[in-house]
Amino acid sequence: LKEITYKIHRFNPEKDSKPYFQAYTFPLKPAMTVLEGLYYILEYLDHTLSFRSSCRMAVCGSCAMHINGKYRLACNTQITSLKSKMVVVQPLLHLPNLKDLVVDHTGFFENLIAIKPWLLGQEPVPEREYLQSPKERKKLDVVTECIMCQACYASCPVAGTDNKYFGPHSFLKVLRFVNDSRDSVTMERLQQVAGETGVFRCHTIFNCQDVCPKHLDPAGAIAQLKMAATLEKLKGKLKTQASV
Ligand code: F3S
Repeated sequence: LKEITYKIHRFNPEKDSKPYFQAYTFPLKPAMTVLEGLYYILEYLDHTLSFRSSCRMAVCGSCAMHINGKYRLACNTQITSLKSKMVVVQPLLHLPNLKDLVVDHTGFFENLIAIKPWLLGQEPVPEREYLQSPKERKKLDVVTECIMCQACYASCPVAGTDNKYFGPHSFLKVLRFVNDSRDSVTMERLQQVAGETGVFRCHTIFNCQDVCPKHLDPAGAIAQLKMAATLEKLKGKLKTQASV
């Protein structure tokens, strides 16, 4: 391929009544990523294009977009890996579209903050630090790598129909604190996620797991939380209507 064509979702609320697609064709360079293509368009073809990016190395999560039918990070997706002459780029779903490929993340972070993603409850607060053994720390490895790119949230149909559903990213975080030896409000956390907008709303669609650019397993985290909540309910310790 010597050239590549991008078809990009465009929308400027100040002048467009509805979104539309705009096509751009430009020379393809070796190992060019989808993000580099967007920067090429911005610099040489159209200065009005809006999109988010920051680290360009799959760490910050800013450039998650819908690219040729799947949510991916634009910075670590090589154009040739898509095996197509056309790259179709759209913004994340379920969040208000502010302009072109930029969405408003407020709802996503509100759902995250609702589950209190920080250490809670251990008293007395130590003078210097909470101690944790390497074995206890190891339990957190899989869940601390989430970069909050929102691909899982955008791909989940339950999140799309209920903006109060905590979302796969939140459940991954809850499991991280349930598994953390320094946190001591496990029962309250389980009680919250076993509620109306919690894990039992998950339809086990697995889109969240499929799109995660860090190969994390939010669906597996949800299954573990369902199991933990159900066991506590059977023991009579959980007040909610949790069922499997
Ligand atoms: Fe949504 Fe993932 Fe459950 S896509 S329905 S949170 S398995």
